[in-house]
Amino acid sequence: MTESSRPSNSAPIGVFDSGIGGLTVVSELRRALPQERILYLGDTARVPYGGKSAETVTRYSRENSDLLLTEGAKMIVVACNTASALALPSIAHHYPVPMIGVLEPGAAAAVKATQSGKIGVIGTRATIASQAYTKAIHRLNPELSVNAIACPLLVPLIEEGLLDDEITEAVLRRYLAPMLGEGIDTIVLGCTHYPLLKGVIAGICGPGVSLVDSAENCALAVKQLLGSDPSTELTPKLDILLTDSSEGFLRIAEKSLHLTIDSLSVRRAGT
Ligand code: DGL
Repeated sequence: MTESSRPSNSAPIGVFDSGIGGLTVVSELRRALPQERILYLGDTARVPYGGKSAETVTRYSRENSDLLLTEGAKMIVVACNTASALALPSIAHHYPVPMIGVLEPGAAAAVKATQSGKIGVIGTRATIASQAYTKAIHRLNPELSVNAIACPLLVPLIEEGLLDDEITEAVLRRYLAPMLGEGIDTIVLGCTHYPLLKGVIAGICGPGVSLVDSAENCALAVKQLLGSDPSTELTPKLDILLTDSSEGFLRIAEKSLHLTIDSLSVRRAGT
């Protein structure tokens, strides 16, 4: 990319996830960087990513990144733990703009938070099978013990909007019981959908367990990366692209995350 074709600092930050989960990152970006324009791509046609192979998630991630770049994004935030674990390391060097994922910031925050040295990680089946969190935590401190479990039922429940529901709470209790019995004091919410269940998870875990929100830590990492070159935009906007229509999307964005959406359109990634 030449100097003249480089996106200006008022170009949007491109963000993608499989569905609504990445909006938890958008919500934190809004708080950390209120002057930035955000272009969010929710791959609602292909959600969930969490049970798919690395090859498929990598292809989807490339197609999503290509679309965001075509739309003029100045950087790409992979607001999906599954794509950050399975695809980001192999695709980041293909792109002429900075790319940042959610995994490393979340791992660093967990290492900082734990007192007991016992960390729990919850995520999709693919994220947990990749052992990406365990490896990232051990790169920072090999002495820590990591208990990582897959919670494949949570993303469909969240996409259905069952955030404050007894079925979701029962499923969470079942998933969390084994790690809580092992004395962990920190849990990484290793899927960007999960901060939408933060209140329920905190209620089950009790005050002795800190919850590390990968969305919050990713937004702080983006702020650091933009450093002294933030947008000077006076009317920051949130534009949304979905790869298929999604009924619950706007409801959750507005009701649970209090996001104001300036435009929403359906676009196809890939082909
Ligand atoms: N929110 C994503 C993640 O952080 C994807 C979940 C999914 O599509 O299964 O892993």
